[in-house]
Amino acid sequence: IYILLKLAILISGRGSNMNAILRAVKKQNIPIEPVVVISNKPSAKGLGIARKYGVKTEIVESKGFQGNRWEYDQKIMDVLTKYGITSKNCLICLAGFMRILSPEFIKKYKNCILNIHPAILPAFPGLDAQKQAINYGVKYSGCTVHFVDDGVDTGPIIVQALVRVKNDDTEEALTKRILAKEHKAYPEAVRLVAQKKIKVVGRNVKFLS
Ligand code: GAR
Repeated sequence: IYILLKLAILISGRGSNMNAILRAVKKQNIPIEPVVVISNKPSAKGLGIARKYGVKTEIVESKGFQGNRWEYDQKIMDVLTKYGITSKNCLICLAGFMRILSPEFIKKYKNCILNIHPAILPAFPGLDAQKQAINYGVKYSGCTVHFVDDGVDTGPIIVQALVRVKNDDTEEALTKRILAKEHKAYPEAVRLVAQKKIKVVGRNVKFLS
């Protein structure tokens, strides 16, 4: 009934969201094919986890890379192409991938790239979102899974989950509670995309029945 999408996950570190996605794909039979996990850092812990799921891993090292952003992203594209991943059949999940993608890359894979952000967007985009939330004094924060457009954390929103900010909350404690929600929200967004349950209209994501 639908084309099976090929899933690529981009990470930089721990890979706990990647783990949650791969686990859900396996356990909940989400109709998507996990093809490759790509890290910009050779030391990323997530690489070992990916291999345990039998998913291929690739490193496109960003440290010391001499070219510009688009030149780096073309190296990512080369890896995707090598695995038969195209703009027509792909879902690319950014999961703690700590690099900004070039407008050229984003245009090429329009509405195929997802990101997770540890705040209720449009509040607290960018780095240290949990710290920003605590410093601001909001009573709720949480996480957002969204399509990537060429702004920073600005694309169409698919799933959000709320977390109450407690009295005297610490950045560490809040981060941990948000992360638990991330691990549910990201697989849910992947499922919605894989099952073709959503349609992007401008900056709105509509749910289809
Ligand atoms: C997650 O909390 C994710 O929301 C955040 O990095 C962490 C990665 O953890 N992403 C951002 O802050 C993006 N601006 P993980 O490697 O264990 O999934």
